[in-house]
Amino acid sequence: MARALLISLASCLLVVNQAFIVRRCDLAKVLHEEQLDGFEGYSLSDWLCLAFVESNFNISKVNENADGSFDYGIFQINSHYWCNDYQSHSENYCHVDCQDLLNPNLLSSISCAKIIVSASGGMRNWVRWKLHCADRPHTYWMTGCHLG
Ligand SMILES: *[C@@H]1O[C@H](CO)[C@@H](O)[C@H](O)[C@H]1NC(C)=O
Repeated sequence: MARALLISLASCLLVVNQAFIVRRCDLAKVLHEEQLDGFEGYSLSDWLCLAFVESNFNISKVNENADGSFDYGIFQINSHYWCNDYQSHSENYCHVDCQDLLNPNLLSSISCAKIIVSASGGMRNWVRWKLHCADRPHTYWMTGCHLG
């Protein structure tokens, strides 16, 4: 099981021109394998929409906010609350090093995202998801993706 997962992760995470852009359906597969489909009531389409509006599927994206905190990785997880960047005060609710959220295997980002989405507000904790994905049809994000 663990081995099969590793192999499929490796084959899923084909990165394009060193920019660490994960392909949409490859991302869907990893999210599915990590049991995000239906997690806290959110579909894979919700997760894909979230990843797109936050990072454009860029696994290595880091963005500095006006308050001096940073957002990391595919889900742009914030250092003020969720991960420790050893630069500014952090609640570090995910008990994770922010740099781990840039790992191409996505596992740290996914476990932290599970913690965030389990908090009150769910996916609305991501402002961009609230603005661009919530209350809109977005099942088309899964178009052409085969999870089998
Ligand atoms: C991905 O994010 C990194 C870090 O923010 C950035 O340097 C790179 O240009 C981005 N790649 C693309 C294709 O936007």
